[in-house]
Amino acid sequence: MVQIKTCVLLLLCVQVVRCLRKNILFLVSDDMRPEIGAYLGPDFPSPIHPTIHTPNLDALASKSLLLKRAYVQQAICSPSRTSLLTGRRPDTTHVYDLVHYFRHVGGNYTTIPQFFKNNGYRSIGMGKIFHHGKASGYDDPISWSEPYYHAPDEKYRSNVVTWRAVSKAEYDIRPLPDMQLTDYAIKSLRRVALDAKSGKQNFFIALGFHKPHLPFVFPEKYLDLYPKDKVRLPDNPYAPVNMPEIAWINYMTEEMANYHDVKEINPSGDINTTLPDHFVLNLRRAYYSAVSYIDDLVGKVLHELDTLGLSDNTVVSFWGDHGWQLGEHGEWSKHTNFEDATHAPMMVHVPGITDKGIITERLVDFVDLFPTLVEVAGFQPLSLCPVDSTKVDLCREGTSFVPLMKDPKCEWKSGAFSQYPRMNYTVMGYTVRTDMYRYTEWPEFIGEPEYKPNWKKLYGVELYDHSNDPEENYNRANDPSYSSLKQQLSAKLRRGWRYSQPKETISLSIEGSCSLYP
Ligand SMILES: *[C@@H]1O[C@H](CO)[C@@H](O)[C@H](O)[C@H]1NC(C)=O
Ligand SMILES: *[C@@H]1O[C@H](CO)[C@@H](O)[C@H](O)[C@H]1NC(C)=O
Ligand SMILES: *[C@@H]1O[C@H](CO)[C@@H](O)[C@H](O)[C@H]1NC(C)=O
Repeated sequence: MVQIKTCVLLLLCVQVVRCLRKNILFLVSDDMRPEIGAYLGPDFPSPIHPTIHTPNLDALASKSLLLKRAYVQQAICSPSRTSLLTGRRPDTTHVYDLVHYFRHVGGNYTTIPQFFKNNGYRSIGMGKIFHHGKASGYDDPISWSEPYYHAPDEKYRSNVVTWRAVSKAEYDIRPLPDMQLTDYAIKSLRRVALDAKSGKQNFFIALGFHKPHLPFVFPEKYLDLYPKDKVRLPDNPYAPVNMPEIAWINYMTEEMANYHDVKEINPSGDINTTLPDHFVLNLRRAYYSAVSYIDDLVGKVLHELDTLGLSDNTVVSFWGDHGWQLGEHGEWSKHTNFEDATHAPMMVHVPGITDKGIITERLVDFVDLFPTLVEVAGFQPLSLCPVDSTKVDLCREGTSFVPLMKDPKCEWKSGAFSQYPRMNYTVMGYTVRTDMYRYTEWPEFIGEPEYKPNWKKLYGVELYDHSNDPEENYNRANDPSYSSLKQQLSAKLRRGWRYSQPKETISLSIEGSCSLYP
C-alpha cells in the first residue's frame, strides 16, 4: 500500500517538475543605446569609440537570445514602455506622451507584471518600469503584488547639469538611486528565493534602472574606462541630405533644455547646428560611463540570482526603452524616427534553451516581448489582438520570438514598425524598418476617437538605404533610382504591422509549452 502511494506521488512529482513555471527577472534600463559589447561585430559597426565596456551585459548576452535588431514602437519613455508592457502599439494604447495613462485613454489592458500576478506569481516592481506619475496612474498598482518601490534618493539632482561624476566618498554616504534599487532587488530576491525554489510561489521581479538617462550621474571611477583623448565626435553632425523638416526635433524643446550647462551655451537646437565640440565629447564620455555603471549593477543582481541557486529556473530579460542620439545628425536624446532613436538593446535568457547564446538579426518589435515571456515561462500562447482591441483585456500585437531561439535565421517578420508624433499630435511619423531600408511617412494624424493617419496629407517622406548608408545620412525618397522601391515600401508601411508578420507556414509557437523543457 505504502509502495503504491509513493509511486503515485513520484509520478505526480515528475509531472509537476516537467511543468514547473519559470520565474522572471525583468531588467530595464533608460535611454540605453544598443552599442554594448555584445552587439558589436562586422554586422554592427559601431560609431562609438572607444567601445563601451559592458562585461556583465555581454556575459548575459552570451547565454541569451540576443536580438540585434529590436525596435521600439515610439522613441520616448512612456509610449515605449506602455506599448511593451501591454503588448500593444501606440495606436492601441493611445499613449503618445508622458501624461496620459493607457487605462484612461486606451483600455483596461493586462500588463506583463499583471499577467504573472494573475497567474499566481509574486509580482514585485522597483525603479522605473512604467513611466512614473500620472502617466501610469502612479506605477499601475494593479500590476504588482506588493507596494511599488522607489529609491529614496531618486532625484540626486541638487546640481542640475547634464552630467556629474560622483566620488566614492560621496556615494558611500549618499548612495546613487540605481545602487539603492540594486540593493532592494537583491533583498527581494533573497526574500522570494525559498518559495520559488520549493515551488510554492514563482516570482516576477522587475527592476528599472534610471541611467543612462540624463543627467548622467555615475561613480567617477567609470570615467577611467574612457580616456578623454580616446573619445570621438560623431562623424555625421549634420541632418540627412534632403531630410524633410518635420523629421527634426528641436532638442531644446525637450529635456536637454532643463540643464544649466546647456542653458549657458543657449544653443538654438535648429537643423544643422550642434553643441560645441568639447561639450559633445564630455557628454559622450559621460554617457558611456553611465552605461558601464548600469552594467556593473546588472552584474551584481545576476550574481545574487546565481548565489541563491535561482538561475536555472529564472528567465532573465533585459531591454532599454529606446535609443539615444549623442550628436549624430546634430540631434540630442530621442524623439525622432531615426535608427539611433528607435533601435534599442534587448536580450532574453531562457535556462536550458538559450544557454549557449543565440544571436539573431531578424527584425523584432518591442511588443514581441510580452508573448515571448508568456511562452517561455510555460503558459499557453496569447492570441492575436483583433483590429479594435480596446475592450479586450489580454491579447498581443506582437509575435513571440521563441521560434528564433530554435532557428535564429528562420524566415521572420519583414518589417518592424515605429512612430512619432509632431506638431502637437496633428502629424504622425510612421516608419518601417525592413532588412535593408528605413522608410518613413509623416501624414496628418486624426486623433481621438480614430487614432489613425490620413495618408492623403503628407508632411514628409524619408527613405534610407542601410546597405550603403547605415548612418541614414541621405534621404533617397526623391531619388528616381529608388522610385519603385519607394512605392513598395509605402504600400508596406500603409498596410501596417499585421501584414509584415512571419508567414503562417512557420510554427509560431512551440506546441504545449512544457515540451520546451523535456
Ligand atoms: C480593469 O480590470 C481589472 C481586472 O483585471 C478590474 O479589477 C478593474 O475593475 C477594471 N477596471 C475598470 C475601470 O474596468
Ligand atoms: C544640412 O547639412 C547637410 C549636409 O551638409 C545638407 O546637405 C543639408 O541640405 C542641410 N540641411 C539644411 C536644412 O540646411
Ligand atoms: C495642442 O492641442 C491641445 C488639444 O487639442 C490644445 O489644448 C493645446 O492648446 C494645443 N497646444 C498647442 C501648443 O497648440
